[in-house]
Amino acid sequence: MRTFIALAVIAPAGLAATALAASLLYLDGPPAGHTGGFGEESCATCHFDNPVNDGEGEVRVSGFPERYEPGETYTVTVEVRRPGIALGGFQAAVRFAEGEHAGRQAGSVRLTDERVTLLETDSVTYLQHTVEGASVEGDLARWSFEWTAPSKAGGKAVLHAAGNAGNGDDSVFGDYIYLAEVVSRVRR
Ligand code: HEC
Repeated sequence: MRTFIALAVIAPAGLAATALAASLLYLDGPPAGHTGGFGEESCATCHFDNPVNDGEGEVRVSGFPERYEPGETYTVTVEVRRPGIALGGFQAAVRFAEGEHAGRQAGSVRLTDERVTLLETDSVTYLQHTVEGASVEGDLARWSFEWTAPSKAGGKAVLHAAGNAGNGDDSVFGDYIYLAEVVSRVRR
């Protein structure tokens, strides 16, 4: 029986490896609500070794418009850079910045990148890296997704992104956490 179970688990090797990585490593998904926005905690709650936003690196958001057209879709990219980064991760969310919907999902997000996955809560859809998406190219890790702006002018939206420039040791130690906040106003 024991052998049977072991075989059943190992059989689809790739899948099993992914599942194993997902269950053993937070790599596959930090808990929801760790972007550092709206009073949330950030990755630094657990990855607390180094000061947040250390000057040698950064998390950079591009493609999130300064002014959005209601209903328009934008391709947004989040990058974490730091010399020597070995594994990277992020979590991001787009929420209304003010008014009665403050802190709730602003518009919608769509996956276009295998390196990104979604984590839904009642009021917010978080974007974050997958296990494969923790890989880096040179000194940066990069992820993209689509954001469709709210259809009715819902007011100012804010994207919070938390990034981890990891040292690749499969622990919370020695990593650098970066936080960013970018605002998008309605185009009038
Ligand atoms: C509740 C604690 C906790 C929080 C919060 C957390 N992590 Fe982690 N993370 C871990 C642990 C523990 C590991 C080590 C691997 C493991 O044991 O799962 C890890 C490992 C990682 C690694 C691999 C690091 C390396 O150098 O090997 C990345 C990348 C990562 N986390 C990204 C993030 C990001 C991005 C956030 C915030 C959005 C975050 N984590 C928030 C617990 C956490």
